[in-house]
Amino acid sequence: MLRLLKVHYKQVSRWGRLAQISLENKKTNLSQQPLGEFDLEKLQILQELKTLSVEENKVRFELSNGGGELCFFKNGIIQVTLVARNVQSVQDESVQQEPTQQESSQQESAQYERPAQVEPPIPTQAVLIPPPPAEIEVEQIPVQGRSLKEQGISVKYHRYRAQISFNPFGITLTNGVGKTVCKDRKVGFTSDRMVVCKELRDEHFYGGGEQTGPLDKSGRYLEYWNTDVFGVHNDDTLHMYCSIPFIIGFPPRESTESGEGEIYGLFIDDGGCSFFDLGKKYKDLYCLGVNHQSLSYYIIPGKSMKEVVEKYTLLTGRMELPPLWGLGFHLSKWSYFPYERVYKTGQFLRKKKIPADAVHLDIDYMDGYRVFTFDRDYFPNPQKMGKKLESMGFKVVTILDPGVKEDSEYLIYQAGLEQGYFVKNKDGIPFSGEVWGKKSAFPDFLKPEARRWWAGLVKAFVTTCGISGIWNDMNEPSEFTSVFRTLPDQAVHSLEGKEVPHKAVHNLYGFLENQATYEGLQEAAPDRRPFILSRSGFAGIQRYAALWTGDNRSRFAHLALAIPMNCNLGLSGVAFVGNDVGGFNENCWPELFARWIELGAFTPFFRVHNICNARPQEPWAFGEEIEEISRTYINLRYQLLPYIYNQFYRAHKTGIPVMAPLVLEYQDDPEVLSLDNQYLFGSDLLIAPVLQEGQTQREVYLPKGWWFDFWSDRMFQGGTRIRYEAPLARLPIFVKADAIIPSWEVIQTTSAGPVRELRFDFYPVTGGTLYYYEDDGETTHYKKGQYNMLEVAHSLEQGDYKISLKYLHKGFTSSRETLSFRLHGVRGLCRVETVGRPGAVDFTTCSDDEQEPVKGVYNSDKRIFSFTLPDQGDDFEVHVQEEQGGEGVGESD
Ligand code: GLC
Repeated sequence: MLRLLKVHYKQVSRWGRLAQISLENKKTNLSQQPLGEFDLEKLQILQELKTLSVEENKVRFELSNGGGELCFFKNGIIQVTLVARNVQSVQDESVQQEPTQQESSQQESAQYERPAQVEPPIPTQAVLIPPPPAEIEVEQIPVQGRSLKEQGISVKYHRYRAQISFNPFGITLTNGVGKTVCKDRKVGFTSDRMVVCKELRDEHFYGGGEQTGPLDKSGRYLEYWNTDVFGVHNDDTLHMYCSIPFIIGFPPRESTESGEGEIYGLFIDDGGCSFFDLGKKYKDLYCLGVNHQSLSYYIIPGKSMKEVVEKYTLLTGRMELPPLWGLGFHLSKWSYFPYERVYKTGQFLRKKKIPADAVHLDIDYMDGYRVFTFDRDYFPNPQKMGKKLESMGFKVVTILDPGVKEDSEYLIYQAGLEQGYFVKNKDGIPFSGEVWGKKSAFPDFLKPEARRWWAGLVKAFVTTCGISGIWNDMNEPSEFTSVFRTLPDQAVHSLEGKEVPHKAVHNLYGFLENQATYEGLQEAAPDRRPFILSRSGFAGIQRYAALWTGDNRSRFAHLALAIPMNCNLGLSGVAFVGNDVGGFNENCWPELFARWIELGAFTPFFRVHNICNARPQEPWAFGEEIEEISRTYINLRYQLLPYIYNQFYRAHKTGIPVMAPLVLEYQDDPEVLSLDNQYLFGSDLLIAPVLQEGQTQREVYLPKGWWFDFWSDRMFQGGTRIRYEAPLARLPIFVKADAIIPSWEVIQTTSAGPVRELRFDFYPVTGGTLYYYEDDGETTHYKKGQYNMLEVAHSLEQGDYKISLKYLHKGFTSSRETLSFRLHGVRGLCRVETVGRPGAVDFTTCSDDEQEPVKGVYNSDKRIFSFTLPDQGDDFEVHVQEEQGGEGVGESD
């Protein structure tokens, strides 16, 4: 009875809260516009050089109304720091007199010795280690009769040249062949912002972090202010949960053809509100800026979009390898409780043979929404529950919110209060806000000691409660009573003993919370890879957490939105990203769920989750047909885990995202510049999901080259659009010719033990190479060399296939028994001969004659020839010969 009452109470209070929030959302979108429109006419233009100095890779300058520093790095990146100063405060008039040209060069050395006073903006920690410094060559721009102050200087470095003018201040960056990369047109400030406007050359813009709207952001205004967006994520939703103020400028095609590097990234390294106006307000300009008078941003030039992404992720860090279980299927619901229901859900998954690796516990597992606690009525023994679920092959991931319930009996609150770990009001009293647990205090994650405290709490919590991963929610931070649904301006943080207003560091809150959580998980299990899922973050969040894109809705429009949003997040450094499959809010229905699970299986993070008061969304909740479709795609996800893991390895090493827009690989193909209803999943799979209700076929654009239909093996020559039949159970998937796709059998969980066979699917046209990475998928031992790197290559010449396998690094012992090979597009074969394996197989055949042993199988429908060899952990070659001779590549009928 007591229990029933409690459930009832929880439901009622939750629904009450939800109703209140949706009403608020209907009124106005209060979380919009902390920065608002800007007017170029009102800018005080930065101008008039006072002093200039050059030191190693830095150029510092003082202007009559500001100052700045340019820092040049070896890989072409420039860090630009600009600081405004009220004109009245300029004391030193001595250098203001216009020198003659002769005087100017005499004065130069003296001026160079006088570094300007530059007060940089508040550091963000997005950039941990700056790249190595560039060697720079500084020249005065030779213009007759004009002083240094007017003509400016030119800095040659890497393969670029930056021309810096001082009256007015501006940078023009040109590449090795003198073509403009980007050019400042107006740089200035107002009382509440610093703005840089550059010349617009019809660029396409990509990246931009978590944003609604299309893939190409040109013509749009993007503003960064982490917000709990409970309202509908519309095309014009200005703020999302996570801010990554990084954009890639991609100039029109003619100008990239020089290949000298005219593509660029711009990253605003600022924890306050920042923005990009990408040609929305001014047709010939694009602008970037922040909500105060100092700005730090980076210009990241590159030859290709890939190069820019690689450089950006070098700057802000790349993701660590995730645990393999993090890439499996995760099932979540607001909320699974009590513990019996959690078990039941797990048992159901197993009984129904739907593979899964994790179950997520939402807020109701807590004792009255007190973080780091369990409701002991519902979860009497979390540790035991964790162990039992572990034995069933499930990890437990628990939600954590930053708000700490104000309750004098609650030790965590008391400790935070006593130690001064909470965000304060200007009067020094801890700020009190409201979240799920009503009155709550907010840890000041800006303080290293508060982060240490939080890390300690995480460590103790996960080790004593059987938890494998943390889901950091509400960390924008969300606060229900303030105007912008976050901490108000009167809230202050403490940074190195100085008070900083919340608005100056707002976008860093979740990022720093994740940093603390990451450290806590690392300390709890030093040789395990942490798993964190976060809603909020800042540039560099990929170092600590995967992101999910918050409270989407069960609508086809939100299914479609997942593509540009995830792709742009990927281009902004976050490779590990996903969306609530089926939609969080509103009621999902069978068709939408089927389409969503198809797409979800091909997103980097794959989780079903939905709100408490909506229709159940487990794969079996929509009837048998949908359950079967779900099983098919979840199975496929598990089969493809070796491929997916390999793509994560690439992201870890290079920053290249797992889910990417086609433009990243095919930047010179004008057809893909705005293409955002299909995408690349890893380097070799093109996914073109059905994104509209009632649709059973769609148009797919295949870029240049050959493509194999994943299902039928039919081949298509790219550079064209095709119509593709896609009934409800069919996700259009295409494999790039010459790809080698590693996979294994369906497993129910990644913790089921070693998989006995690794399969390579070859899609040969001419040949290709796969670098296949493997390790234990769980520990950090790979950092000490305990991994394998295999080079798997194939070539095809007139019906003669050669496959080779070579260990480039061998540090991990797999207990695999066999390797299987499947050659696609083969016309009735085959003789197989292995080379370089003493005593190994020599000739095998698939033909009907009596030759023994028959190891190969030919599927004439699909034209696939497969054979299996024992895995001896060695290097070897295989020759496969078509018996009827190759006919070359041709489109099949
Ligand atoms: C937020 C989260 C959602 C979660 C809910 C309750 O709305 O975005 O995923 O289920 O809070 O914790």
